Amino acid sequence: MDTKELRKLFERLTIREKIAQTIQLNGSLVVENDVMNTGPMQELGLPSDLNLYEIGSIYNVNDFEKLKRLQEQVLNKTPQQIPMLFMSDVIYGFRTIFPIPLAQAGSYDFDLIRKAAEITAKESYLNGLHIIFSPVLDLVRDPRWGRVMESPGEDVYTAKQFAKSVVTGYQGDCSKGVPENHVAACIKHFAGYGAPEAGREYNTVDLSNQRLFNEYLQPYQAALEAQTMLVMTAFNVLNGVPATGNKWLNRAILRERFGFDGVLVSDYAAVKELVPHGFAADEKEAAQKALEAGVDFDMMTSVYAKQLPELVNDPKIAALLDEAVWRILELKNHLGLFENPYRGLDLPQTGEILTEEAKATAVKLVEKSSVLLKNNGALPLQSEQKVAVIGPYGESRLTLGFWASVSGKPQDAISLKEGLLNNVAAEKLTFARGYNLFDSYDGFGPLKQGIERLNGPIEPAEQLFEEALTAAAAADVVVLTFGEQFLESGEGASKAKLGLPEKQVRLIRALKETGKPLVGVLYTGRPLVLTEVEPLFDSLLLVWYPGIMGGIGVANLLTGKSSPSARLSMTFPRSEGQIPIYGAQLSTGRPLASSSHSDRFVSKYIDESNEPLFKFGTGLTYAEFEGRWLTGVVTEQAVELDYRVKNQGALTADTAVHVYVKQAPAAIVRPVKRLVASAAVTLEAQEEKQLKSQIPLAELIFYDNEGNQHLATGDYQFILDIGGTEDFITLSL
Ligand code: NOJ
Repeated sequence: MDTKELRKLFERLTIREKIAQTIQLNGSLVVENDVMNTGPMQELGLPSDLNLYEIGSIYNVNDFEKLKRLQEQVLNKTPQQIPMLFMSDVIYGFRTIFPIPLAQAGSYDFDLIRKAAEITAKESYLNGLHIIFSPVLDLVRDPRWGRVMESPGEDVYTAKQFAKSVVTGYQGDCSKGVPENHVAACIKHFAGYGAPEAGREYNTVDLSNQRLFNEYLQPYQAALEAQTMLVMTAFNVLNGVPATGNKWLNRAILRERFGFDGVLVSDYAAVKELVPHGFAADEKEAAQKALEAGVDFDMMTSVYAKQLPELVNDPKIAALLDEAVWRILELKNHLGLFENPYRGLDLPQTGEILTEEAKATAVKLVEKSSVLLKNNGALPLQSEQKVAVIGPYGESRLTLGFWASVSGKPQDAISLKEGLLNNVAAEKLTFARGYNLFDSYDGFGPLKQGIERLNGPIEPAEQLFEEALTAAAAADVVVLTFGEQFLESGEGASKAKLGLPEKQVRLIRALKETGKPLVGVLYTGRPLVLTEVEPLFDSLLLVWYPGIMGGIGVANLLTGKSSPSARLSMTFPRSEGQIPIYGAQLSTGRPLASSSHSDRFVSKYIDESNEPLFKFGTGLTYAEFEGRWLTGVVTEQAVELDYRVKNQGALTADTAVHVYVKQAPAAIVRPVKRLVASAAVTLEAQEEKQLKSQIPLAELIFYDNEGNQHLATGDYQFILDIGGTEDFITLSL
């Protein structure tokens, strides 16, 4: 529809119809449904004269047939026939569930990440979805927070690259509207949601301007530059003002400074929560403040629906409502819904979901995002070895992680057992559960039955323990799968203790005592504190939540069919007391290594090391890579560096190259060392390649407290870091 026609439609709308456009509800309220709900279901108290078919959007219905029927009803039961928007919490895959974002980011293969996003978009599109609620771009430096799994981790550069790849993968080239097989991205949670005090879910966030501008806003900004069409607000208070009612954040920064003219959706009930935040006296004020802050959609409350009819008597509020509705209509138009309200719903479905290509991409991403944290030679496994695979993830398919439950199916997952049987002769393998993944099925609410069915009965703990030791005794090498179960991370899963449960520690100790080489395979949604058990493992492979193809990808890595190459996207602390701990720390006036102060008065703990257990960027391979700088020049736009990298080993292998900078002194203290470039490289045995790293000067600038950009002059040291070997070059800017 051209803009003129859209305008005409807009002008025909009554106030009631306009307000309806700003309402977004969970699909279960509109169609009979088994939709996943992610917040407190309460009596919404929607006005009785609200025609549910007139609302602007629903979310989390992923059933093709239901969406088709619903759109038909929308067109039949509303005078203006404005198609409804269908959104969903598709975070890292629709049916082809990929490894969690925290894992993917560590691959440093941003082309592969974009490819996975394209597959996600296509599967979502083919199921009638228009918009998916991702990528999550909250920078995270506190593993106590349960949602770190959804984000690309602690590092600004990494998160920016991830943001660009995912948004372009989802949206394609959307200059003339969102193309077929693509969906619009909704980045979230604007802003700072990943930094709740003490890691406690929904807690206060306090970030200085220098942190905001130089770090926390950067990933969202990268996604905005990649033209994301929607943004979701955050639940948290940011510097004293709730994000959802924060005019400075959403108008001055998001819209004016970053030039965002797309749709801003509130998070679940966040408009109403302005009242308990103590920021609005009542729902009326909450509606006004959210609208003034530029929030277009009120997700899952009746606040806009009930309060706006009266509030719009004020012409200023009426103008704000018009703005919001116009943006929503423009989005619908950009998706081509006025031309085809059945976008994605009028196509044959069979064969396009879970394709061989999608599964192969998922396997590749598992291989490229699993991190080899430690290897004393127990990996890869050798074909003549008898292997005891102990622990619940030997056979469990519950390897998808929290968010995948919205549209993914654990039944699609390949277990590690199935993967290993592809590579290892059956008579060389034994399996023992070792411990129960769940101690009880109580407290899982509606998920209880499904989990119980998938995971099987809870078995006597001592019997499992004994069986594990028997299996270990008869094997040459023990592979122990351990870590978190999928409900232990994700929304609402903050933890104060990050160690392993006693049943796992006991098993690890007992297995160590068998004297057999012990390989750990860690399934988790967050960095854990492994200080006590790490020395007991000979080798340790972190596979996060690897998604449906985890069994194949992890088996390939364990058996050496492929070599690990990922690097940690988030630091593993030695103890909770070190948190927040991350790589790009600012310098202090009294660094630990300084010589001019006595030992006591330097920045350190008296009861713990400053060093994490595994620092950001850790990641071993089965090969041996070596790299060195060749030349470096500074041009008007970029620092251009040439380097050589060689695979010294006897196997073809991938590696993720990191380039860090130690920059010249500046008016704002900058990190001692931070990542500014990366590359995913594959080299055959003994192969050597010459490569180029281009670091745009924009990557080297910093923001002052007013948000102005500067480039400090002076010496910059660039560090080429390839799997543990480092080379240095200094250039003057
Ligand atoms: C709450 C979560 O914070 C958000 O990420 C999600 O998209 C919404 N619920 C909708 O389910």
